[in-house]
Amino acid sequence: MSQQPRVLLTGGAGYIGSHTAVALIEAGYAPVLVDDFSNSSPAVLKRLEQLTGQPVVCERGDVQDRPWVEGLLRRHACQATIHLAGFKAVGESVAQPLKYYRNNVGGLISVMQAMQAVDCRAIVFSSSATVYGDPASVPIDETFACAPESPYAHSKLVCEQMLAAQAKAQADWRVGVLRYFNPVGAHPSGQIGEDPGGVPNNLMPYIAQVAVGQREKLQVFGNDYPTPDGTGVRDYLHVTDLALGHVAAVKRLLQCPGSFTVNLGTGAGTSVLGVLRAFERASGRSVPFEFVPRRAGDVAQYFADASLAASVLGWRASHGIEAMCRDAWHWQQRNPLGYAGEVAHELRGSGEKSRLGSFSDAI
Ligand code: UFG
Repeated sequence: MSQQPRVLLTGGAGYIGSHTAVALIEAGYAPVLVDDFSNSSPAVLKRLEQLTGQPVVCERGDVQDRPWVEGLLRRHACQATIHLAGFKAVGESVAQPLKYYRNNVGGLISVMQAMQAVDCRAIVFSSSATVYGDPASVPIDETFACAPESPYAHSKLVCEQMLAAQAKAQADWRVGVLRYFNPVGAHPSGQIGEDPGGVPNNLMPYIAQVAVGQREKLQVFGNDYPTPDGTGVRDYLHVTDLALGHVAAVKRLLQCPGSFTVNLGTGAGTSVLGVLRAFERASGRSVPFEFVPRRAGDVAQYFADASLAASVLGWRASHGIEAMCRDAWHWQQRNPLGYAGEVAHELRGSGEKSRLGSFSDAI
């Protein structure tokens, strides 16, 4: 049996999960990916094997199936879980709140119960800066009050509170909550990246699709915010830096008792026009845009005080907006249709769930 610590990585085939899988493998961990492929493609697995030069273990199924998760934790002897699986579209959560509570809260309950049953006590949880709502000021630190404004954001806060209650009730639990700001970009190889289905909700993939010619122009939501150029300011974070944040978090949990909640951001804000101009420089293409009214629910400015993550985890983001745009563009150029078009890999097994096992074995 491998001596590398095994880590269950739910949502492992998704945008953040796939980059986290690479970072874990490079840091000497053995991730066991879990995904239902509801918002990801099995094609990513082959890319992960090419990137890391190692077989990638992936199990297909729904984390709400507690006995199944329990079986995985036992079979792979996982020492920790990184729980990323969840729904993340803010607008959809407003329209279909129960879907979000059921999947995001129900999924975490299932994973925690499975962990409890097998004595796995360390969990890193993917939360979001959106739990802060509209902040009283910036930068935002972890002592700010939480005031979620969407069912998605509220589902993340409920998950955080459940984790805190469990850590309080059972002193051997170790919980690392990561509040992400705005993850963007892609692996510098251009092999893995963000593959939003349909019209992208988020700024960077939308800009990338305009630059590559798939969409006509960007709509900039509001130019009358109280910000230097009137457009919304966010803390964009390179996804590979975010992935390293997960590695630092799981390392800390496995080495030290105790729990923590930290922001993961760069600490710097960039406006919508700032991102657009940086993308134009990175791509050498012009990105047409028009100003349209503000998007409901958006706030003017949002960026992190990232100093707690530096002191607790020794983690700091190292990439700026230029590198984020360069790598997003590289991915977009190499994969104008995302993972679509890749030959679907034949999944071993049958029915709702199948075990992919070592992906090398499955092809
Ligand atoms: N924007 C546009 N046009 C677009 C898309 C976005 O002008 O087509 C603007 C937005 O108004 C905002 C900025 O670009 O000012 C960033 O918008 P995103 O949708 O990329 O990101 P958000 O900050 O709205 O939200 C993201 C995630 C949430 C997460 C939050 C945490 O979508 O899931 O960051 O801060 F909770």
